[in-house]
Amino acid sequence: MKGNFNGREEVTKDDGSFSRRRFLNGFGGSGIFAGMMGAAGADEPPRDQRGKVIPGFEKTKQEPRVVTDWHPVSERKIKVGIAGYGLCKFGAAFYYQNHPNVEVVAATDLDPQRCAALAKAVGAKKTYPSCEEMIQDQSLEAIYIATDAPSHARLAIMALEHDKHVCSAVPAVFGFQAVDEAERLFRAVQQSGMKYMMNETSTFHADLYAKRVQYQSGALGKIIYSEGEYWHDGVGVLGSYNPKNGRIDEFGWRRALPPMWYPTHATAYYVSVTGGRFTEVSGLGTESAYPVYREAENQYENLFGTEIAMLKTKEGGISRMGVSWDMKDAHGEQGRVYGQKSHDQKIDGSRPPLPMGVEGGGHGGSHGQLTNDFIESILLDRRPIVDIGDALNMTLSGVIAHQSALKGGEWMRIPQYD
Ligand SMILES: NC(=O)c1ccc[n+]([C@@H]2O[C@H](COP(=O)([O-])OP(=O)(O)OC[C@H]3O[C@@H](n4cnc5c(N)ncnc54)[C@H](O)[C@@H]3O)[C@@H](O)[C@H]2O)c1
Repeated sequence: MKGNFNGREEVTKDDGSFSRRRFLNGFGGSGIFAGMMGAAGADEPPRDQRGKVIPGFEKTKQEPRVVTDWHPVSERKIKVGIAGYGLCKFGAAFYYQNHPNVEVVAATDLDPQRCAALAKAVGAKKTYPSCEEMIQDQSLEAIYIATDAPSHARLAIMALEHDKHVCSAVPAVFGFQAVDEAERLFRAVQQSGMKYMMNETSTFHADLYAKRVQYQSGALGKIIYSEGEYWHDGVGVLGSYNPKNGRIDEFGWRRALPPMWYPTHATAYYVSVTGGRFTEVSGLGTESAYPVYREAENQYENLFGTEIAMLKTKEGGISRMGVSWDMKDAHGEQGRVYGQKSHDQKIDGSRPPLPMGVEGGGHGGSHGQLTNDFIESILLDRRPIVDIGDALNMTLSGVIAHQSALKGGEWMRIPQYD
């Protein structure tokens, strides 16, 4: 089962046609980034330092969708504030501005130019110099956090404490603080009673969603074995927000990133299918040949460019999940899920219809689906598709896998949240 990752051939061709030397030499630093970011229009997909479209953002052909099948669940418009317009321009990529039940009231980015560009792209009349200041706006009901990964949990907790619903880009928690952040984020969700959703794009890949429907209807029985992969060569040297200078450059949070600190595109291939939990993990890593991992003091003291985890599931199954930033011929986000019983071809596992103007969009047609699910979870007061329990299990299983890899694969328990 392969992820519905449109444009995969294009990525294969691109990646196959350049050498590592050219890749590193061609890295022009923040000046090039600033120029690229400034030149790109709101509809332009984000590009890496080589000018190539970042995998997952290729223009996808809108799948034939009967928009007339979408029925509004309410006339109400949720007032949303959007934070973050960095390398991936994620703030504008999820169709909040097109959803009939949303009014995008405010936008923010720490960088004034990126803030203005985001406000223009999403039609927000108000701007704030930071997400922290936007969260104080009492007119806002929900915040979409598309800032750098290390800031997600802190901003989500703050927004929940101000009685805002929160949708956060992945991962839910990050890095050395992840386990502590998980505890605090979980408590903030419980105490606030607000909705929290993590925007895991694999959750709405066509194949994963179809398996989810199969599993939930009981067709597959117990999942005996599942595997998920996120292969993306070069992430450790891709640009990202650098808090030291405020720029998007090669010294931001992605530099030498431990692959398993960014596990959710893979781990979704069990957690989002079943709503179940990984309980224990044994991880292994391989040392990367990219020089950034060998720098004397890289910010995470991380040597690994590829990490593979074996996991036990609560229902007694086994999983293998992998994330790699340095395998040349491996691309995309995909997985396989095998149950005790056969896939039932008679069950319709197609994704829900979307409102006119809201496209599936990037990452296999997942963007619009995630937004629609989050907004309907507020309007209908129902559980979002990736709630706090799913988000933390998808994220922490990778964080603990990295800890395990540092201990040569020792089996370790994953903190449980439900
Ligand atoms: N498939 C996926 O789900 C997928 C794909 C790509 C990126 N992402 C996630 O999306 C997020 C954004 O990615 P990116 O590459 O654009 O990140 P980035 O690091 O390039 O940019 C982050 C932006 O957030 C802004 N920011 C940081 N702190 C802020 C604050 N307190 N208030 C307002 N703005 C603030 C920065 O100025 C910057 O413009 C990341 O967390 C990444 O993990 C997910």
